[in-house]
Amino acid sequence: ASHPTDDPLALMALCEELARAAGEHVRERTVDRGGVARTKSSAVDVVTAVDTESEALLRERIARARPDDAVLGEEEGGTAGTSGLTWVVDPIDGTVNFLYGIPSYAVSVAVVRGEPRPGEWTQIAGCVHSVAVGSTWTAARGYGAWRDGERLALREGPPLAEALVGTGFSYTADKRGRQGEVVARMLPHVRDIRRIGAAAIDLCLVADGRLDAYYEHGLNPWDVAAGSLVVTEAGGVVEGLDGGPPAHGTTVAGAAELVRELAALLRTLDAADV
Ligand code: IPD
Ligand code: CA
Ligand code: CA
Ligand code: CA
Repeated sequence: ASHPTDDPLALMALCEELARAAGEHVRERTVDRGGVARTKSSAVDVVTAVDTESEALLRERIARARPDDAVLGEEEGGTAGTSGLTWVVDPIDGTVNFLYGIPSYAVSVAVVRGEPRPGEWTQIAGCVHSVAVGSTWTAARGYGAWRDGERLALREGPPLAEALVGTGFSYTADKRGRQGEVVARMLPHVRDIRRIGAAAIDLCLVADGRLDAYYEHGLNPWDVAAGSLVVTEAGGVVEGLDGGPPAHGTTVAGAAELVRELAALLRTLDAADV
């Protein structure tokens, strides 16, 4: 029996094909602020019909192209496979931006080997397609990262005091309050803060050098599966607060030296237990 390829570049091409196909659908389907289909973990954790449709489209195409692979998606959860590979998909990252017509939202598609969790997985390939802007980032393990076909190479970061730092906030009220306090205490130590609203795009902007660093507490696998591979394949690091893998706590991304400085600041600001 012919086994589908595990080649990172071939899988990257498929990630891109899938992300663009779902992106095409998202682009055709605008909703307004009345388009909230339901809420999830809290009243601010919204889902639109388009999130669901985009994930259905991704799952259908994955099943057709890679019937033996598992799938983990934000809206439908996990589906088992037999190949050891899992497709980790965020059908719309930046749903709130999508709902308000702010053009920072993306389809994120990655394929990983092993448990589909940061620290346990081996990311093979990924694509983040920024639907409204039209930018597409791709990465393949061992081969590099690209934006619209142009090879990315992260430069050394500035000192923390001159760093533009992206972050994001969880959907649960008590966590958001604590995260806001951490941001307030961080602000005097950095150039400025950005809350762009789509974790996958934040990571790609770090890989681009358009953000110097990014951190967030409590991200899910689908938020980071593609974007963090784009960062590491561009030459950056993605770590937890203690320098190990991000796991369930805080994810910090950027050039190695700056990530160490930012993680040290976050530890003193007590972000670890947010
Ligand atoms: C969210 C966005 C947001 C981040 C949240 C994520 P969603 O994903 O990436 O920027 O701060 O932590 O949950 O719900 O829009 O896919
Ligand atoms: Ca969501
Ligand atoms: Ca997301
Ligand atoms: Ca999402």
